[in-house]
Amino acid sequence: MPSIRSALFAVVASTCTTQAVTVQNAEAAYQQLQGWYNQSIGLWIPSTGWWNSANCITVIADLAAIDDSIKVRSQGVFQNTYYRAQQYNLDMQKTVGPDWLPWTYYGNHWPHYPPGWHHPAPVQTNGFLNDYYDDEGWWGLAWVAAYDVTGNPQYLQEAQSIFENIKAAWGTTPCSGVWWDKAHTYVNAIANELFLDLAAHLANRGGSQSAYYRSWAVRQWNWFQNSGMINAQHTINDGLDNTTCKNNGGTVWSYNQGVILGGLSELSRATNDQSYITIAKQIADAAITNLTDSNGILHDVCEPNCGADGSQFKGVFARNLQILQKASPEGRYATFLQKNANSIWANDRQGSALSVVWSGPFVSPANASTQSSAMDAIVAALATS
Ligand SMILES: *[C@@H]1O[C@H](CO)[C@@H](O)[C@H](O)[C@H]1NC(C)=O
Ligand SMILES: *[C@@H]1O[C@H](CO)[C@@H](O)[C@H](O)[C@H]1NC(C)=O
Ligand SMILES: *[C@@H]1O[C@H](CO)[C@@H](O)[C@H](O)[C@H]1NC(C)=O
Ligand SMILES: *[C@@H]1O[C@H](CO)[C@@H](O)[C@H](O)[C@H]1NC(C)=O
Repeated sequence: MPSIRSALFAVVASTCTTQAVTVQNAEAAYQQLQGWYNQSIGLWIPSTGWWNSANCITVIADLAAIDDSIKVRSQGVFQNTYYRAQQYNLDMQKTVGPDWLPWTYYGNHWPHYPPGWHHPAPVQTNGFLNDYYDDEGWWGLAWVAAYDVTGNPQYLQEAQSIFENIKAAWGTTPCSGVWWDKAHTYVNAIANELFLDLAAHLANRGGSQSAYYRSWAVRQWNWFQNSGMINAQHTINDGLDNTTCKNNGGTVWSYNQGVILGGLSELSRATNDQSYITIAKQIADAAITNLTDSNGILHDVCEPNCGADGSQFKGVFARNLQILQKASPEGRYATFLQKNANSIWANDRQGSALSVVWSGPFVSPANASTQSSAMDAIVAALATS
């Protein structure tokens, strides 16, 4: 049985050469992340951007779920962000750049609008809503995560209200599903996966409204599965061509292989149907095959120049593989998460700062995006070991 023997050897070899990450390491990384927290607006700006800040909230909530000291320290962060961020009407606009890499521009911090930018006038954020359904989905999931760890119903209500804004736009594209943006330029995977994921999370937390959210999650998955975005290799391309409604062959980004795993795991829990887990594992395995190097470390093709948006992606995969792993554990996923977390700490760190290339070397400077993304892998490894 050579494959089992070599797999065992790989596990032994990696645990011998690298120290396993610890909760103390995660706490140091949290301390570093909070050095970039802007208390007056409740966002990690200017270190990173709007939707990235939602991902910062999510990883803090996930860490708080396994670490009581962070649980105590994070309450004030959730409250502050909840009140301040929704009052801060951020001037922002997003676009899709070369290789289908999304790129966000901001009115008063980097990345600034390029000279001569004349797209529709920049629209300000309004509460946790803006002109991009994916950004809304990230905030919805952030408030679900904060609700899970605090029990504060205000956060769950916020997530439910964000859900309604996205739902209202369902079925309005030429291909059905939801648009990426309110300007209707693109039907992509991320906005549609996030809608599924938010619906499925709410289905398991919705009390008397569970059936409502569950039916939306089922409807969205049935659409997504037949949308063409999942390719023959079982990985997910960036989106659809909005005239033919066919897969656009866009880059296979790690976050698009990630959000779907959380969505399908939560949907399986909501429906008691294991077939969603089977599909999730098919996608997870295909993604790990496609996006890891020979040492099993995850990469996106944009590295090390992933911009303010792409530097967030890999953590999203790790976080959602963690959800799948808790729902239906596999040794190979535990190994993947351990290896990636250990590699970040061993090779991609300066002090407690973590950067964008998980196999190393450290890319200076780190920021709240690279930090929170790498923390996702560390938290996922700790939560599943
Ligand atoms: C917090 O954000 C505001 C608004 O963008 C900015 O003016 C301020 O300089 C930021 N504070 C820090 C400490 O970066
Ligand atoms: C379709 O895509 C093109 C190119 O991204 C975009 O300019 C156009 O506005 C989109 N929307 C529709 C409805 O065709
Ligand atoms: C990953 O998938 C892309 C497109 O689906 C393909 O071009 C590439 O060769 C694959 N890479 C690996 C390492 O499997
Ligand atoms: C954060 O770091 C990444 C990776 O080095 C970089 O691509 C990105 O531009 C940085 N973000 C900001 C807002 O400076």
